[in-house]
Amino acid sequence: MAIKEEIEKRRTFGIISHPDAGKTTLTEKLLLFGGAIQTAGAVKSNKIKKHATSDFMEIERQRGISVATSVMGFEYKGVKINLLDTPGHEDFAEDTYRTLTAVDSVIMVIDCAKGVEPQTRKLLEVCRMRNTPVIVFINKLDREGKNPFDLLDEIEKELKIDLRPLTWPISMGKTFKGVYNLYEKSLILFNNGEKQTSENSIIIKDLNDGTIDDIIGEDFANTLRHDVELIEGVYADFDKEDYLEAMISPVFFGSAVNNFGVRELLDAFIQIAPTPKSRETDLREINPNDKNFSGFVFKIHANLDPKHRDRIAFLRVCSGKFERNKNYFHVRENRSLKFSNPTAFMAQEKNVVDEAYPGDIVGLYDSGLFKIGDTLTEGEKMNFKGIPQFSPELFKYVVNADPLKTKQLNKGLEQLTDEGVAQLFTKKTDNRKILGTVGALQFEVIQHRLKSEYSASCNFEHISLYKACWISSKDRKKLEDFISEKLHHMATDKEGRPVFLAESAWALQMAQEKNPDIRFHFISEFKEN
Ligand code: G4P
Repeated sequence: MAIKEEIEKRRTFGIISHPDAGKTTLTEKLLLFGGAIQTAGAVKSNKIKKHATSDFMEIERQRGISVATSVMGFEYKGVKINLLDTPGHEDFAEDTYRTLTAVDSVIMVIDCAKGVEPQTRKLLEVCRMRNTPVIVFINKLDREGKNPFDLLDEIEKELKIDLRPLTWPISMGKTFKGVYNLYEKSLILFNNGEKQTSENSIIIKDLNDGTIDDIIGEDFANTLRHDVELIEGVYADFDKEDYLEAMISPVFFGSAVNNFGVRELLDAFIQIAPTPKSRETDLREINPNDKNFSGFVFKIHANLDPKHRDRIAFLRVCSGKFERNKNYFHVRENRSLKFSNPTAFMAQEKNVVDEAYPGDIVGLYDSGLFKIGDTLTEGEKMNFKGIPQFSPELFKYVVNADPLKTKQLNKGLEQLTDEGVAQLFTKKTDNRKILGTVGALQFEVIQHRLKSEYSASCNFEHISLYKACWISSKDRKKLEDFISEKLHHMATDKEGRPVFLAESAWALQMAQEKNPDIRFHFISEFKEN
């Protein structure tokens, strides 16, 4: 098959949600439809259960599982779907942010009773940064929830996105009847209590047709007619181009656990979701159809086997064809590399692959050569953009607990932060190392892994910090003046860039107000001036 056809066949996406909205359940149902798994419950184990958050062995176990579920590939109606797993636990949010740099679209799951929740908000911001098209799936219609019109209003206002329902629920909770497919003009009936594998779909071309009253009862039929009239009056027709430009998000209603509304979602998804898109580099835009291979690393996963320190780097193929045993150029390292065992992920199996195409994710065994964001090419010196680090929210000083193992500690910190477990800053005044993370669990993870993988020990010391943000200015002198004025609040990141450590929201605000020529950045990727 020509590369162009391979690209057309691919849809690479992620599911995002606030924990408990139903992401794992929906993932599982999609895999069931794709024939990638045979039994329900297969994906469940991927979750870090709330009660287990402080149980270290549980986290380690999850790390092992999450390699297998990092990418779930399956075929559905001739389309090759790559579903990238995003950790649900908010402490691993940064992992999720980075995974979102490797997808072409997302499905956002919202619990119909809870509406927009904090994690939904954060994740959508990340999607917005990259103009990622979003499909909304409103879940748990088998339970009492918010009025669907209110819910759509809430989502539009809170997330600042425009919506267009493509299915519409008929009641909810105990009296949930099903959904009406506004596009195909069909009624899909919900069989209360029965887990459904194939839905009961009835074509209803004209809502005024009396059959609908016979099926769902006059009251519900009238409400549906009224709702549909309102929807058609209020919402513009769905325009696929607007969706692809991330200007509008189609909405589906259903109940993942009951396998209800999932098929409609998947069918629409393969029709409208984007095929691999062009991507920006610091040199030029890379079109997936480009003859030469290129890709970037968006995730690094340490292997669990303590005897081997290899890791798996997850590479998103952006253009051309990736081939096993071919020499590729590691731009940052300025050297050529060959991969004899690249792996692809089909459902929960890893297999060695001979070739991969744009949109595919390849696992590369790595002995410490890769950092998140690294680019591989066929020789061209360019770097993919849009894989930033996010300003961390929690901070601790690292204290070396075993001075004889200083070298190991430094190496461990270097490598673990390359993997993106946390960010490392060095204070200007005393060279003390500060770790910054998005979640509290990461500190435990680092301490444990330093011990087990590098034989190094560290303790953490409290540091009172609100935010670390990168700073830049068009005016070099002003930047230097700011750095010397705030020397006690300055650090450098691993790349040597200046980072301002704000002790409080107020301190940050004051610094911003008093220094209009300094720009404060909350993600690491910004134009220098
Ligand atoms: P997450 O990955 O987004 O965190 O959510 P997950 O799928 O694990 O779902 C969270 C809980 O919501 C699960 O229940 C799940 O069964 C339930 N759920 C998912 N979809 C629906 C739905 O359509 N309707 C209803 N009523 N519940 C739904 P749990 O009790 O936490 O876990 P479990 O014991 O069922 O595994």
